[in-house]
Amino acid sequence: MVITALLSIFALLSPALAVSINNTLYIITNAETPSLDRPGLTPIGLQRAQDCIPPIFADLNLGLIIVCKPNNKTGACMPANDTAAPLAASLGLVPDSHCGTASDACVGNTLTKYAKNSTQAILVVWDSAEMDDLLENLDIELPGGDDDDDADEVTSHADLLLIKNLKQKVIETSMNCTGIDGPAPGTF
Ligand SMILES: *[C@@H]1O[C@H](CO)[C@@H](O)[C@H](O)[C@H]1NC(C)=O
Ligand SMILES: *[C@@H]1O[C@H](CO)[C@@H](O)[C@H](O)[C@H]1NC(C)=O
Ligand SMILES: *[C@@H]1O[C@H](CO)[C@@H](O)[C@H](O)[C@H]1NC(C)=O
Ligand SMILES: *[C@@H]1O[C@H](CO)[C@@H](O)[C@H](O)[C@H]1NC(C)=O
Ligand SMILES: *[C@@H]1O[C@H](CO)[C@@H](O)[C@H](O)[C@H]1NC(C)=O
Repeated sequence: MVITALLSIFALLSPALAVSINNTLYIITNAETPSLDRPGLTPIGLQRAQDCIPPIFADLNLGLIIVCKPNNKTGACMPANDTAAPLAASLGLVPDSHCGTASDACVGNTLTKYAKNSTQAILVVWDSAEMDDLLENLDIELPGGDDDDDADEVTSHADLLLIKNLKQKVIETSMNCTGIDGPAPGTF
């Protein structure tokens, strides 16, 4: 109890975002993937990537999409890359995939560099298996979250969208994709 309280106070004192940028930052994880590490996205995942995500970001003034470096041999970050592709194509952007998933400062540095030249919003699409490292490296804490559970929470729901800008705390919302997020019609 005492330790938890102390950790919470520490969390309040630590900066919300290690990289200080004014650009709005969005973070999502990969869309739904098949079990047993089979490649690709599930039909629902494809629907999310192709039909749901592009309209969400159509008018949000995105200037940069960052995905973790895909590797078609190991499968690493292929789901994130597949999730970002339809959106990137619709906006005429080429995702920046030069950052690996290893714990390092690459994403933070990329954000900082971009923010020097542009005020446009940024989307990071990261594989669920590596979300832990990403949130830690960017020093992002979810509202009411306990550090250790943040990544679990984000990756347990493919529809979760995190929004951060300098002036406010991290907002956690749903993509609200018709038919695939939230309770199915007729259930309760
Ligand atoms: C963010 O915007 C404010 C006001 O426009 C400006 O003073 C500040 O330097 C900017 N911060 C960064 C990190 O660009
Ligand atoms: C994997 O990617 C490399 C380089 O992008 C490409 O040449 C190769 O055809 C790809 N292999 C498969 C199985 O997609
Ligand atoms: C990642 O997605 C881009 C399209 O956004 C595609 O051109 C590229 O081939 C993909 N990379 C791999 C390794 O599949
Ligand atoms: C920022 O823009 C300037 C002028 O267009 C360019 O020289 C510089 O390379 C850009 N920096 C980055 C990090 O993109
Ligand atoms: C999803 O719906 C909730 C509740 O109506 C709303 O607060 C939230 O802003 C919506 N999310 C998006 C990305 O529009």
